[in-house]
This record gives sequence, C-alpha cells and structure tokens, in this order.
Amino acid sequence: MKPKNSIQTVFLLASVAYFFAFVMTLGTSCKHEPLLDDLIMPIDSTDTLDTLIVVDTLPMGIPCNPDSIYFEAQVLPILISNCAKSGCHDVTSHEDGVILDSYANVMQTADVEPFNIDAGKLYEVITETDPDKKMPQPPNAPLTQEQVQIIANWILQGALDLSCNPNFGACDTVNVSFSQTLQPIINSHCKGCHSGSTPAGNISLENYSAVKTMALNGKLYGVISWSNNFSNMPKGGNQLDSCTVSKFKSWIDAGVLNN
Ligand code: HEC
Repeated sequence: MKPKNSIQTVFLLASVAYFFAFVMTLGTSCKHEPLLDDLIMPIDSTDTLDTLIVVDTLPMGIPCNPDSIYFEAQVLPILISNCAKSGCHDVTSHEDGVILDSYANVMQTADVEPFNIDAGKLYEVITETDPDKKMPQPPNAPLTQEQVQIIANWILQGALDLSCNPNFGACDTVNVSFSQTLQPIINSHCKGCHSGSTPAGNISLENYSAVKTMALNGKLYGVISWSNNFSNMPKGGNQLDSCTVSKFKSWIDAGVLNN
C-alpha cells in the first residue's frame, strides 16, 4: 500500500506544480497581447508591386470578365489619382490613418466591409452629401458617377483583389484610337492629378490638345515608359502594363491623331 501512496503523492505534487506553471504561462501570455500599432502598420507597397509584375509578365494570364471588378486595374488607379496624393492619403500623409496606395493598405485602413456598401466608411465618404465630409475634398474634383459605381461594385462583389489580362491572346497596337483606347486610360490613371485649376506639375491632361502637347514634346512616352530623366507616372502607382505603353507609342509614332 505504501509505495502506491508515495506514487500518488509524487503525482499530486507534480500536478500541483504543473498547474502553477500553467497559470504563470497564462499570466505572461496576457501581457504579450499585440499592440494596436503592430496591427495597423501599413504594408510596404513594394510587396504588392513585386507580385503584380510577376502577374503582369505571365504570357497569358486570365482573360477579363466584363462583369467582374479588378482591383489593380480598375479601383486602385482611381484611388491613386484622386486620394493617395501628397497631403491626403499617400503613405507619408495618411490623413486620419487612411492609406489608399495598395490593396493591403486599403483593406487595413479604409474601413471596407466586403459585400456591404452601407457598412464601411469608404463608400460613405465618396457619396456623402455634407460638403465638409465628402471626399475627395476641394480643390480636388469629386469622383465621377462611373468611378463611384466601380468602387460600389467592387465592394458588393466582396472587395477582392482579382486580376486579369486585358490583352489576353494578343496585344493590338495597330488599331489604336485616342478617344476609344487611350483617353479612358488617361481619365482613370492620370486625370485625377492632371486636371482642374491647379493640375499636378502644372500639366493638364484633360483633353486631346493638352495630351497632344505632352506627346509631341516626348514627355508623355518618357513618363509612362519610366525612362531615365523622366518622373515615373502614374506617380505613386504601378506602371501601366507593357501592352498599354506600346499602344501609346504606336499612336505617337503614327502622328498623334485625334482619332
Ligand atoms: C498622384 C498624382 C499623379 C498621377 C496619378 C499622375 N501624375 Fe503626372 N505628375 C504628378 C506630379 C506631382 C508631377 C510633377 C512632379 C514630378 O514630375 O514628379 C507630374 C508630372 C508629370 C509630367 C511632367 C514630367 C516632366 O518630366 O516634366 C507628365 C508628362 C505627367 N506627369 C504625365 C502623367 C501621366 C501620363 C499620368 C498617367 C499615366 C500621370 N502623370 C499620373 C502627379 C501625378
């Protein structure tokens, strides 16, 4: 009987010791809860850029579905040229803690509620009627109805980071029209900064004749091809895909037509 008792005693002591050790661990782990600051640290936007370049250089990629909203191609350019500007929501200024320069930062800082446009802040501020709260703030122009709709549909589709290849199969640099092919790209990727009474760099890209001037002096192709001696445009954004850059080049080489 005795040995059994001492085994039981040892077992009991070990259990008590183990219990105290366990409680101590609990105590310490509580003190190591992540700080809020760690959780909302913005993600380095170059991470996203690297991933994108890989996707962009795939020979085929995925063909675009006209019913889907593609974040990098459709939503991000609107945010970059209207919101992620210096003094507003770029990574340096981060007004109200909101950074709108990449998918990761938008999802972390802009209060987007996937599938629900009424719950998050992003859709609310762009459709706000109170001029003090409406974004973008003057002198920046408000978003167009089409741009608001793109953002709404993106949220309603789950606020995903989908990507596709708009030139799936082939890159057509022959049939390039200013109004059909190039102007929509300028409107979504450049105009937010290069329009209005005080356009960025004092350069307007609002209409054909303004774009023509920049095409003829070589600056347009210089900035979109990220050539040395030129600023990289869109400023703070991803480079236009190589097929789109080739389309601009073929339009310039063909004589900058208003077609
Ligand atoms: C977020 C704002 C922003 C966006 C978006 C943007 N730009 Fe700019 N752009 C600027 C600023 C600021 C300057 C002047 C300072 C500089 O050169 O970096 C500038 C300068 C330029 C210049 C003159 C460069 C030179 O060397 O003189 C051209 C041309 C230009 N942008 C074209 C474009 C085109 C084309 C797009 C779209 C594909 C675009 N920009 C998108 C802010 C922007």
